[in-house]
Amino acid sequence: MTKASPDVISRAGELRDLITEHNYQYYVLDDPGVPDAEYDRLFRELQELEAQYPDIVTPDSPTRRVGASAETTFEEVVHRIPMLSLDNAFSDEELRDFDRRVKDRLKTTDDIEYVCEPKLDGLAVSLHYESGILTRAATRGDGYTGEDITANIRTIPSVPLKLRGTNVPELVEVRGEVYMPRDGFEALNKRLADRGEKTFVNPRNAAAGSLRQKKPTVTARRPLEMCAYSVALEDESLLPATHWEGLQQVKDWGFRINPEMRKASGADACLQAYDELMDKRASLPYEIDGIVFKVNSLALQRQLGFVSRAPRWAIAQKFPAQEELTVIEDVEFQVGRTGAVTPVARLKPVFVGGVTVSNATLHNMDEIRRLDARIGDTVFVRRAGDVIPQVVKVVTERRPENARVVELPDACPVCQSDIVQIEGEVVARCSGGLFCPAQRKEAIRHYASRKALDIEGLGDKWIDILVDRELVNTVADLYLLKKADLTGLERMGEKSAGNLIDAIDRSRNPVLWKFIYALGIREVGEATAKALASHFGTLEAISEADEEALQSVPDVGPIVAGHIRSFFDQPHNQETIQALKAAGVQWQSEEITAAEKPLKGETWVLTGTLSDMTRDDAKAKLESLGAKVAGSVSKKTSCVVAGEAAGSKLTKAESLGVQVMDEQAFIDFLATHNIEP
Ligand code: IVH
Repeated sequence: MTKASPDVISRAGELRDLITEHNYQYYVLDDPGVPDAEYDRLFRELQELEAQYPDIVTPDSPTRRVGASAETTFEEVVHRIPMLSLDNAFSDEELRDFDRRVKDRLKTTDDIEYVCEPKLDGLAVSLHYESGILTRAATRGDGYTGEDITANIRTIPSVPLKLRGTNVPELVEVRGEVYMPRDGFEALNKRLADRGEKTFVNPRNAAAGSLRQKKPTVTARRPLEMCAYSVALEDESLLPATHWEGLQQVKDWGFRINPEMRKASGADACLQAYDELMDKRASLPYEIDGIVFKVNSLALQRQLGFVSRAPRWAIAQKFPAQEELTVIEDVEFQVGRTGAVTPVARLKPVFVGGVTVSNATLHNMDEIRRLDARIGDTVFVRRAGDVIPQVVKVVTERRPENARVVELPDACPVCQSDIVQIEGEVVARCSGGLFCPAQRKEAIRHYASRKALDIEGLGDKWIDILVDRELVNTVADLYLLKKADLTGLERMGEKSAGNLIDAIDRSRNPVLWKFIYALGIREVGEATAKALASHFGTLEAISEADEEALQSVPDVGPIVAGHIRSFFDQPHNQETIQALKAAGVQWQSEEITAAEKPLKGETWVLTGTLSDMTRDDAKAKLESLGAKVAGSVSKKTSCVVAGEAAGSKLTKAESLGVQVMDEQAFIDFLATHNIEP
């Protein structure tokens, strides 16, 4: 083995410092200092040096987060200072009682200063640093003994392998929470579900499962983060005077501390902090299950001491639970606008995540099979943030004998048409199309929705009545309604009938993209509707475009192009569009300036072989300039583009005196419109 030269050793040191600094900026400060590519180059350079000269590797090298020979041992470790838990307060009153007990014990009537910290929903860990180097990481275990998880903890990028700064003590223990942010949790679960594997119930379980991996390489792929919330020193005289200052110290050593932490004096201010954090809860990128109040002064903490397993100087006030148990009383099937048949669990009502939940989507039959959910089962229901309630787990031990397996019905529950499931697709669909009242209602609801034609007042109540009474079968029928049709209906007053007619009337002149969006073509959302409108300019052009032409629109791939084509190929959709026109609906064509569509009204013909682009490319380019591209030459042809070996079309163009361009002239022409070949 060649020995590393002093230059190599110094370059390796420099790289380690640089990479560690970039890691810190990226994972702790959330503020990358260099682009990823630059980081990757530095990392690779260090990896190569270390591979060449293995004796220069140090344990704190950023390349050693997943060490080659590392293995998580899960050996038992005894905590030098026990890792206690927290008492809970379940109401404002219990928090006030806690504050009163603190003041009584301290024999004071002054307000106590507390640090208010989000209670992160993860796992407590203890990290030992010797001379600033991470030497041992352990779980809390029973508070007295935990498990050695050093190799796994090292893979978490926000855990410093080496403390920053100069003020680093010989021996220090930092404690905090390892957790999985929501987006990482959702992505992980999606990955597991796609593979048909068991998913995690919540981010806490996902974090715990990830830390319990035998292989650190698996943990390394899990999106874990760590926030520090306390520091313990063998030599207590080195500690600052307050918990708050301790947190600042830990931050300076390179840890992430939670940005929502703050100070509050007295119980009222604490309760206000509770309310404010509770309001923020749903929008935080990670889950919290409450707020922790800690007496700030360490001298007062010492005076207060501990009782059994919890400190007298801290308390956790819990937020409403985001998971509860309930029972699936039935499973019904709902039919959506596109005919998708979705199983919905009817649940025994349960209060979870701050609301009463009595329904939860089960998504599709694959999901029901994956969960093995049956009618009568006791299930975990989870509602976190603003996310719709989910059934995340079945408690099979509590399955009653008469639990029923859920089966996809053969016929649509609304129109009795066949339900079909295409091979390889997870979604089952009603084949009834607009014959199916459920699909009709959904189509009308979508057409009238705020983002589409925004027909104010046309809510579910009206739609149900209008469709059930067969006053409205398609959206075009809306425009034929008269006030007299509505005033006779039960529960519908004169005023609301008049308002509805007015609102329908006001929707007669939508801009083109809104009208396209309102048609409810599968997978054509607002962005695609806008792109189609600006590319084609008119509804006619879209409805006549073939799949290839449709695919020249940004973001329109073969699947969406297929949906658009099949929408316009359905006679009943064409009829509805004609009926809308006849009823006086006039969408405004896209405002296309002459500069944008200079070839509007022209018909071009392509012939021969082009060498710099395909015929399809050329066609798409011409269409983007507003031209129609035809297959044969006539007197009306505006121009013929003739490539190599052009034949009869070229001859005909010449005989009719139609303008002809060769490929180079065409490329030059495109260039004048800023289009590259
Ligand atoms: S302090 C002696 N602070 O809550 C005080 N704990 O029941 C020990 N936790 O196991 C804990 N966020 O996993 C503290 N800001 C925070 C916390 C926090 C979450 C967890 C921790 C602990 C449990 C206490």
